[in-house]
Amino acid sequence: MIETGADGRTWLLSGPRSSYALRLTEHDELLHLHWGPQITLADAEALAAEPLPPARPFESALDGREEYPVEGGPRFVPPALSVRGGGVRGTEWRYRNAAADEDELQLHFFDPVHQLRITLVYRLRGDVIERQVVLVHEGRFGTSEVELLREDPATWTLPARDRWRLSQLHGRWAAESRLVRADLTYGEQVIGSRRGHTGHHHLPWVALDAGEATEESGEVYSCALAWSGSWRVSVHRLPDGTVQITGGSGHDGSGQHLLAPGTAVVTPVFAGLWTDGGFGGASRAWHAYQHAHVIPDAGTPRPVLYNSWEATGFDISEGQQRKLARRAAALGVELFVVDDAWFGERVSDRAGLGDWTPNPDRFPGGLGPLADEVHGLGMRFGIWVEPEMVNPDSDLYRAHPDWVQHQHGRTRTEFRNQLVLDLTREDVRAHLWRRLDGLLSSAPVDYVKWDFNRPFTDVGRPGAAYPQGLWSGHTHALYDLLDRLRQAHPDVAFESCSGGGGRIDLGILSRTDQVWTSDNTDPLDRLAIQHGFSQLHPARVMAAWVTDSPNTQLNGRVSSLCFRFVSAMAGVLGIGGDLTRWTEGELAEARDWVALYKEIRPVVQLGDLYRLRPPGDGLSAVQYVRGDDSVVLAWLRAQAYGEEPAPVRLRGLDPAAAYVCPDTGETYRGAVLLHRGLRTGLTGDLDAAVFRLRRV
Ligand code: GLA
Repeated sequence: MIETGADGRTWLLSGPRSSYALRLTEHDELLHLHWGPQITLADAEALAAEPLPPARPFESALDGREEYPVEGGPRFVPPALSVRGGGVRGTEWRYRNAAADEDELQLHFFDPVHQLRITLVYRLRGDVIERQVVLVHEGRFGTSEVELLREDPATWTLPARDRWRLSQLHGRWAAESRLVRADLTYGEQVIGSRRGHTGHHHLPWVALDAGEATEESGEVYSCALAWSGSWRVSVHRLPDGTVQITGGSGHDGSGQHLLAPGTAVVTPVFAGLWTDGGFGGASRAWHAYQHAHVIPDAGTPRPVLYNSWEATGFDISEGQQRKLARRAAALGVELFVVDDAWFGERVSDRAGLGDWTPNPDRFPGGLGPLADEVHGLGMRFGIWVEPEMVNPDSDLYRAHPDWVQHQHGRTRTEFRNQLVLDLTREDVRAHLWRRLDGLLSSAPVDYVKWDFNRPFTDVGRPGAAYPQGLWSGHTHALYDLLDRLRQAHPDVAFESCSGGGGRIDLGILSRTDQVWTSDNTDPLDRLAIQHGFSQLHPARVMAAWVTDSPNTQLNGRVSSLCFRFVSAMAGVLGIGGDLTRWTEGELAEARDWVALYKEIRPVVQLGDLYRLRPPGDGLSAVQYVRGDDSVVLAWLRAQAYGEEPAPVRLRGLDPAAAYVCPDTGETYRGAVLLHRGLRTGLTGDLDAAVFRLRRV
């Protein structure tokens, strides 16, 4: 609900549990009043009536209080908006008007020098507020262009507290989304990506608490950016203890773009959430938001998939894939995905990227015959592509060496022997559309794993005027391509992959169906990655595979099939091991795990997540609750001699109800499970179990 004060200059936005208030002064300064528990319009107006603090030497009364600090004037905080034009820097706006309905508020401002209309948009999505900015150059043809250096969708302002603690998700390739929490000192802490994709190094999310929140209690402020290119989020603690978080697309120096007269730009969404249910409550609210407003068709659970990448690498053939498909189908797999190396001269990572036609030696009749067999086995059929890239050793590059990002007289830097196509070129976009649309029309493809395996380095387009807008233009072109493909092929599902979890954010999640969480499929390492991932994103999009033991891809760790399955069952289950080498006993066990997963899948993928115990040295566990059903997954890393792991206290149950486990028939008291806890019976090293509970 959105309410407007009597003088039309105070606004109150209220979600089911939270409120957000702002005030426009008579000098057209837009001040932040409140973000936290629900308040009334009278409360907001009382806050609005408080005067700004008295002027102090060397201080701006506006700093830390403004909704959207622009560059210029008496402001010294990191600006959310930074523009140049006609030799004038910064912004000085005049308020025009506001428009509000049930769940959206738009505030329109105008800078007469730049002829720039600035619209701040607030959209209520439960307790999540989506913020976005629209910039329109209203100048007549011939007026000077406006250069946009920084155009953040939002600055989020937190109240003054004695202490602030910052939670963030950091990592690197094969070790993504690991949670760290540390005190915030004064000044700016900046995270982001200068790589052209979201990156493995930080998920675009931060959470702040006053040092007192726990998993299940306390105030938590969190923000997440919906953008899949370079980005920057700055968390700034001011001298008075307030915190401002400003973030958006583009890294400093990436040279954004020019806004010509008569054109407009819409920023990505930077969403914010206040909750008082601890970190767990914040995660559940983010998950609910993504289910309701971000993820396409989120109410439909994702199928169990098989992917042979770890088993076969680049050495693939139709016969081998058919054999694997038969084994996978016998396990109950529902989607069979052919990964890399089905196309062009792609027998290693040195060649073939860009040539999206089936390799004739490997697939003499194209992909159709394999797809038909996979369908005949009752599974859906998927393929891997990496459309934004090209190997220099490819027909595409030989025909169009100028189609890659590069600069005159500079080295074309290769990572994994590949270059990045310049998607801001109309001819490149048209080519990709034709190839991908053709591919999806030529064979019955139900699923596309869309990869991106190197960062940007040589961002340039010879001949194009500066700034060339390649950094953000690439991401817009990617979104556009995905949107068009989804529209033309509505039954095809897409997975976002970037060497594992290098492109995971709310922007890509609004146009893909799941993400490849990490190239690290070690079931123990995965627990920490999944713990971090779950802070923001739900299990419904978190792909996880059971692979071979010892782990062939990375660390050689030996683990039981049980431990590997229970680890992967915390998300969208997949299998990625070499099934031709699994014993009859292993295949039979795997069949049972897949059958069990299908039974718990609606609870895992669509239920509420409770992180019961974080991954560590001993026992860790998560729980999912959906209606009367609950599922607990528990893992024991190592047991100290003679020490039985403590019972795990469950959440989200009715203390007055009884719960039965359909596997053992055992009955439990809700109150006992909540207070004393569930005895897992796990022993030894790397043990794991699944517990199902149904309310009687
Ligand atoms: C990336 C992906 C892997 C696999 C390979 C194929 O590394 O993350 O899952 O698809 O590419 O080359």
